[in-house]
Amino acid sequence: MLHKLLQRMSIPVLLSVTVNTMAQDRNHIRLTDKQSIPRVIAAMTVEEKVSIVTGMGLHIEGLPPGILPPGNPADDAVPEKVPGASGRTHAIPRLGIPSLTFTDGPAGIRISPVRHHDTTHTYYATAFPVATLLASSWDTALVTQVGKAMGREALEYGIDVLLAPGMNIQRNPLGGRNFEYYSEDPVLSGLVAAAMVRGVQSAGVGVSVKHFAANNQEFNRMQMNTHVSERALREIYLRNFQLAIKTAKPWTVMSSYNFINGTYASEYPGLLKSVLRDEWKYNGIVMTDWYGGKDPVKQLLAYNNLLMPGYAAQSDALLAAVKQGTVPMKVLDENVAGILQLILQSPTFRKYAYTDKPDLAASAAIARRAGAESMVLLKNENALPVGAPGKIALFGVTSYRIIAGGTGSGGVFKAYVTDLDKAMLQGGFVLDAGLQTEYSKYITNQLAEQPKSHSLFGTPPAIPELQLDTETIGRLAKYMDAAVITLGRNAGEGSDRKVADDFNLRKDEIALLESISRAFHAQNKKVIVVLNIDGVIETASWRDMADAILLAWQPGQEGGSCMVDVLNGNVNPSGKLAATFPLNYTDVPSADNFPGKEIPGADNSGANPLMGKPSEITYTEDIYVGYRYYTTKNISVAYPFGHGLSYTTFSYSQLRLSSPVYVAPVKVSITVGNSGKKAGKEVVQLYVQSPAIKAGRPAKELKAFAKTKLLQPGEKDNLQFGITAMDLAWFDESRSAWIVSPGIYTLQLSASATDVRQTATLRVDKEMIVEKVKPVLAAK
Ligand code: BGC
Repeated sequence: MLHKLLQRMSIPVLLSVTVNTMAQDRNHIRLTDKQSIPRVIAAMTVEEKVSIVTGMGLHIEGLPPGILPPGNPADDAVPEKVPGASGRTHAIPRLGIPSLTFTDGPAGIRISPVRHHDTTHTYYATAFPVATLLASSWDTALVTQVGKAMGREALEYGIDVLLAPGMNIQRNPLGGRNFEYYSEDPVLSGLVAAAMVRGVQSAGVGVSVKHFAANNQEFNRMQMNTHVSERALREIYLRNFQLAIKTAKPWTVMSSYNFINGTYASEYPGLLKSVLRDEWKYNGIVMTDWYGGKDPVKQLLAYNNLLMPGYAAQSDALLAAVKQGTVPMKVLDENVAGILQLILQSPTFRKYAYTDKPDLAASAAIARRAGAESMVLLKNENALPVGAPGKIALFGVTSYRIIAGGTGSGGVFKAYVTDLDKAMLQGGFVLDAGLQTEYSKYITNQLAEQPKSHSLFGTPPAIPELQLDTETIGRLAKYMDAAVITLGRNAGEGSDRKVADDFNLRKDEIALLESISRAFHAQNKKVIVVLNIDGVIETASWRDMADAILLAWQPGQEGGSCMVDVLNGNVNPSGKLAATFPLNYTDVPSADNFPGKEIPGADNSGANPLMGKPSEITYTEDIYVGYRYYTTKNISVAYPFGHGLSYTTFSYSQLRLSSPVYVAPVKVSITVGNSGKKAGKEVVQLYVQSPAIKAGRPAKELKAFAKTKLLQPGEKDNLQFGITAMDLAWFDESRSAWIVSPGIYTLQLSASATDVRQTATLRVDKEMIVEKVKPVLAAK
């Protein structure tokens, strides 16, 4: 048509040929590699560009109209690639742009285990140990193995990006999602997260480290304004992300729901552009948390590239803004370019032929090993290990119904969970069959009475402990060798925990402990408590009733087997606490400032229908989170950060520093020997005590850690650490810089935050400015 018109107008044919070729070229523009990105963007309509930065939306039954999926009805015809996955990006087939699929989460691949069209095949995924348990291994190589297994499952199920790891700081024990997070300490959290990212991404799928940042409670999480000093942000709440992002290069970062000092994290250029991109040199994309933030225009201007899961009002607002020029085309293009780069890396783009048949047996073996290697032996007075075949009186509802992991998006649809009773029998222990039957009947009846919940959020109510009569307990105490009692706790996304009946034990649990401890101790038999919990609980008031306490956290689907591996001594426990167990909740530095408060009379207009009420919280404890607070203020705790017993003992010797005066970087080495009678591994923690400054510094801060290999009795291992200027630095808000103050630094090579084994000093003669940054996070 155009050709004919040109001829009639006597325009030279040469021009007509050129125009023709251009039209054809446009038809042949496709995303092929990095170089093709500018051409592909130039060939996109504005509507297509907007579709790339907003996800395809979610069809959730009962979804309020304000957050329906974005415009294009043709999207509805695109079959869901992985049923039950968390979200998808838009495809533009004419430009060779496929749709990517993202799914949760931190403990394994969260997808629907069954599909309507396919009744012959199931799609279960492995429930791995939760993040807090993995962090308790202090073993980055092990965490990478877990990540690899998760990555392979994601790949075989057709997933492009795993929405994990969760790595917010466990600021307060009541945080409802603490189980999805690693630690109260940024270095442990950051290095473990880096190990996880490396593992997952080595399988060729991406991760989304989340939730960036200062999202440390669930209460009104979508409208929570976190007031926090820039120093606390830099030293605590961002430091872990900085470590993981700089060293492991995650493909994506998920911005958090909350405001930070008055600005939504997803709308905060200071956070997402200046700190993340300019300072940390991050070059992946940022996606919002699901339905997070309020203003899509501000989000794009802040380089929050992708709005997930995407809804119609967002694309409408963006289209209007681009037309009005409030979102310059250049900014839209840059956001799109980031997403196209992600697409190029993805298995879908590479046309990976996924099988839907991951090697679940291989993953289960890794889950079991990781669970057992990470559990923490809190207390042991000659009670453990109990070698099989021992006769064990097994108490506690949770023994018969292990809690593999938490609820919400951090949960996994797994094919099975190995309960402790079954695992004990398999491990050669002898149980009381009558007791087993009684528990099983009781649990079935209790479950039948529970309300059926279909929502993603909400944790099923706890089953009260079965109170057995004194005669039964007395009989068991006489003929069994020991008692094992498992106490359980669960929590998840959408709400925080409570002090009464959760952080503190319930009356029925205390009653059970009392009656068992009385009867078994009267027969000189040991009482062992296993804690199958999502978060820190109170232990000081009841721990005397137990001879041993094994902290199993939430160990995943192989939970019972992991517990048995440690209880019978097949695995010598080598986990150490990633969070402090305080004596009382009131000792927690943030006890008075958690989980925040609603702001009376605050404007709630423009909030999407999922959002709660405008709320706020002030991190008054500032940088003094967890052990930083307890050690600085000399407050006794039940079990300190870094604590964990073994079935053997270790000696520390020959601490060496490459130089007594700071010369970058200082090399530190120490020899650790197994001084006991069983093979075991030791986690060595390097804390730094800095010289006093006016602005204040914590009594000590973890800067590095290492774990020995399995040491046979008498065997030794040499561990190496590096200390950089950044490890000695603090963030000076007045100068907007990381500063190393002059003075004497004490390096404490320790078995826990309070068990210092060897020390050495390091001198800094002159103040050093490690890095000057823009004051973009200053609290208003
Ligand atoms: C959670 C995220 C999760 C997302 C997708 C949100 O509610 O906060 O952690 O990745 O949902 O399921």
